[in-house]
Amino acid sequence: MNILVTGSNGQLGTELKRLSGSFTSHVFFFTDVAELDITQQSMVQAFVKDNGIDVILNCAAYTAVDKAEQEQQLAYAINASAPGFLADSALKNNCLLVHVSTDYVYDGKAYRPYTELDPTAPESYYGYSKLAGEQAVINSGCAAVILRTSWLYSAHGANFVKTMRKYGKERGKLNVVFDQIGSPTWAADLANAIMQIVEDPDVRNKCGTYLFANEGVTSWYDFAVEILQMSGIACQVTPIETKDYPLPARRPHYSVLNKTLVKSNFGISIPHWKESLKKCIQDLNE
Ligand SMILES: NC(=O)c1ccc[n+]([C@@H]2O[C@H](COP(=O)([O-])OP(=O)(O)OC[C@H]3O[C@@H](n4cnc5c(N)ncnc54)[C@H](OP(=O)(O)O)[C@@H]3O)[C@@H](O)[C@H]2O)c1
Repeated sequence: MNILVTGSNGQLGTELKRLSGSFTSHVFFFTDVAELDITQQSMVQAFVKDNGIDVILNCAAYTAVDKAEQEQQLAYAINASAPGFLADSALKNNCLLVHVSTDYVYDGKAYRPYTELDPTAPESYYGYSKLAGEQAVINSGCAAVILRTSWLYSAHGANFVKTMRKYGKERGKLNVVFDQIGSPTWAADLANAIMQIVEDPDVRNKCGTYLFANEGVTSWYDFAVEILQMSGIACQVTPIETKDYPLPARRPHYSVLNKTLVKSNFGISIPHWKESLKKCIQDLNE
């Protein structure tokens, strides 16, 4: 298959690049904004048609959650309009689109893990723009798998794991919120799951929205403690409340995702977050 990966310099795109070496029967087209700006509809259409693309993996996004409250037009163009352009091209060229979304589409007020059927109610502009992107994909009628994920991290790019290691070393003391509960996701595990989905011979009969994160549940505070311990960084971590760490965008207090559907439909087995965190820290130490 000819597989287009957008936003391939990001966390998820980089993990797909690494993984692509094990999938020699496919031809990958790794692009980021310099090669293919997904907000340019005519360029998207030409790229997909001219290269005979069979599968589009949309890893491109506007992910600056707080800045999105100000830069709403840009966030909407990348997270909402552009997935619609990709979906439109997928429909015209009979491609499968795998589109990545977020736990921020939920309001975070649940008391048990979210399922695909739970109502969405984003509380931030980022969440709103990502939900609009999902809707554009669904409304296009193309063959699409939408994967909502949470707390993504990797050895590459800016993320919580790297921030905790940096500030932990520099400051020796950190305050981290304990009243936001969710599940971290190692980008390498998500990349693996995406390739398993793409290679499923029956994938076109299994299109729809799915949830994916690592197994297990934690708070940002507990996650930080584990990151620092596994990294061998001596740092005192103090749990604080969200109200004492105000940010422009509201975060869901609870965004644990129920992965039953993705596991059962695609036979995916998901590692526990601690197991994957250990591997990412090994990556970072190398
Ligand atoms: N990070 C998280 O915690 C998290 C949590 C839940 C879900 N997600 C979702 O997971 C997916 C992957 O996230 P990620 O963390 O890998 O994102 P990322 O590291 O921010 O990577 C996104 C990539 O897309 C590129 N991009 C931006 N605008 C573009 C455009 N117009 N055309 C083409 N490429 C463009 C970015 O380039 P620049 O860097 O130059 O802008 C970047 O290389 C996204 O859909 C995100 O919404 C992320």
